[in-house]
Amino acid sequence: MLLALILLALLAIFLYWQLVLAEGAYFGPRVVALLYDLVARHYNHIKQYTAEDDAHFLGIPLSASLIGSWQPLVLDVATGTSRLPLALFSQPNFHGRVIALDNARRMLHAATQYVAAHRDRITWVWHPAVPLPFADDAFDAVTCLEALEFMPDTRAALIECIRVLKPGGMLLVTNRAGRGAHLMPGKAMSKARCEALLKSLGQTDVTLQIWQYDYDLAWSLKPGADAPDRLTDPIEALRCPRCHSRLDQIDGAFMCANCPRRYPIGNDGVLEML
Ligand SMILES: C[S@@+](CC[C@H](N)C(=O)[O-])C[C@H]1O[C@@H](n2cnc3c(N)ncnc32)[C@H](O)[C@@H]1O
Repeated sequence: MLLALILLALLAIFLYWQLVLAEGAYFGPRVVALLYDLVARHYNHIKQYTAEDDAHFLGIPLSASLIGSWQPLVLDVATGTSRLPLALFSQPNFHGRVIALDNARRMLHAATQYVAAHRDRITWVWHPAVPLPFADDAFDAVTCLEALEFMPDTRAALIECIRVLKPGGMLLVTNRAGRGAHLMPGKAMSKARCEALLKSLGQTDVTLQIWQYDYDLAWSLKPGADAPDRLTDPIEALRCPRCHSRLDQIDGAFMCANCPRRYPIGNDGVLEML
């Protein structure tokens, strides 16, 4: 009896660690997406972000880094309820557009409601972070907040973010810090490891900044000069996840220009590529 109780307690601790603290990260992307879908409606209430903090740490510095580009195109990977796009749209000097990608469908649905006032400037895409269904060198900035440690392969996710980032473009990601980092061995990185990884992928001007109690911000630039033929329309950046060809918008869906794939747009406006 005692042994059974001890085993039950150990199982409960294990499940709490895996499903609540590590948010399913060790069980793979489907479990992570399922857990986020379960909490999507309450996510913002649980997190309690404030618009002031998000403006101070995200919206103001990121929009300032984009000031040289008229109508910049930004990609927010693992957008969740689209906190980052909202922080950017709240900045009067940001005139660009955002593609917001996530693999949890209900998180995107919640995002469409929070960012409803800016619908004409945002495209939501339901797809995993690796591979990204976008052209090379397409975005002026790529962001990925509070998400890298939940992905199957952090390095592969960063490589994808950098592939779609324009030369000279800004990459903003987060690195897990604090007590939570110790609870995710093999997933969370030390500051030094994060900095070294970004540098090993060719990023320059790598700067880590203390942000929230459980995350640091990591800013870095993709080396090279901005190409003259810039994209401003998000549709031009989209690529077929199967054959990487261009997509055309036809009758409430996107059609691949090469293979017969068709990607519908949900009633809430989310482009469903999964
Ligand atoms: C903690 S939330 C962060 C959301 C948002 N970036 C923010 O800062 O509020 C993590 C998000 O990452 C998404 N995510 C996790 N793994 C993913 C993957 N492999 N591909 C795409 N999204 C993923 C989850 O669905 C969830 O919406």
